[in-house]
Amino acid sequence: MSGIITSGEKRLVLVTGRAHPELAEAVGKELGTGVLPTTAYDFANSEIYVRFNESVRGCDAFVLQSHTEPINQWIMEQLIMVDALKRASAKRITVVAPFYPYARQDKKHLGREPISARLMADLFKTAGADRLMAVDLHAAQAQGFFDGPVDHLWAMPVLVDYVKSRVDLSHVAVVSPDAGRIRVAEKWANKLGGCPLAFVHKTRDTSRPNVAVANRVVGDVEGLNCVLVDDLIDTGGTIAEAVKVLKDSGAKSVIVAATHGVLSPPAAQRLSECGATEVVITDTLPIKAEKRFDKLTILPIAPLLARAIREVFDDGSVTSLFDGVA
Ligand code: R5P
Repeated sequence: MSGIITSGEKRLVLVTGRAHPELAEAVGKELGTGVLPTTAYDFANSEIYVRFNESVRGCDAFVLQSHTEPINQWIMEQLIMVDALKRASAKRITVVAPFYPYARQDKKHLGREPISARLMADLFKTAGADRLMAVDLHAAQAQGFFDGPVDHLWAMPVLVDYVKSRVDLSHVAVVSPDAGRIRVAEKWANKLGGCPLAFVHKTRDTSRPNVAVANRVVGDVEGLNCVLVDDLIDTGGTIAEAVKVLKDSGAKSVIVAATHGVLSPPAAQRLSECGATEVVITDTLPIKAEKRFDKLTILPIAPLLARAIREVFDDGSVTSLFDGVA
């Protein structure tokens, strides 16, 4: 496999940066293309060099990068790869960012703040991207930041199938860890047979980053097995606080399901000690050994990414992958 698949006159090429090679390999395997051999390294002053080892002229290129730490380096590498593809005459370029960088900075909370998620979209466009593909954007409306088609994928089917096999569905409630994600939690509740819904009233002190306070549960979780759903877990503060307040409100058990495992310290410690029976995430981001803990389950996202890439390449339907979820 050389990273290329040909269909009639069209050629699908999968290329990747260096952030999460295991994910790219898994996507390439699912697609049957492999990953295009690429040379990439850092100069002494940390500038990045990239060159594709084979021709990409006329191809339908998908540039996969997983925006883990050091995030700014991997953003720059992906931009450089898009630029190289454009200058090498790729016919169409799709940025595949399973975890969209700076997604949480999607609006101004205070005067003189940036809207960094919009800036990312502009950078991808300026570099030469024709399309974007991402999984579970922090806010779905951020699709509008990019001037072009955006394929917004949902990890929910992957997570729901697994959670269904782990929870007693006769006594279950879906819980959003803050008011902002109640619509997503509602979709989860529908997928779990129309079960009760609750949310945690969470507050943040904007002068202290990464500190979340769960005040109380809105809704009845007494005696129920709670499925606590979020788009991402960073330091684990939101989830740990939510589990505590759910237990204090009489929840029988809590299983956590989130798409993106950012897991910045002290997430592993907080999550392993928070009282959740299990924490389920996907591998949109690499999960290094020091981020792992006993109750952590990591589900593969590559099959979903590969199916979506295939639909885009074949001019098929990405929506059809989600059975009305989106
Ligand atoms: C917030 O709106 C997000 O959905 C996450 O709940 C939050 O960013 C997670 O951050 P942390 O794990 O650091 O509390």
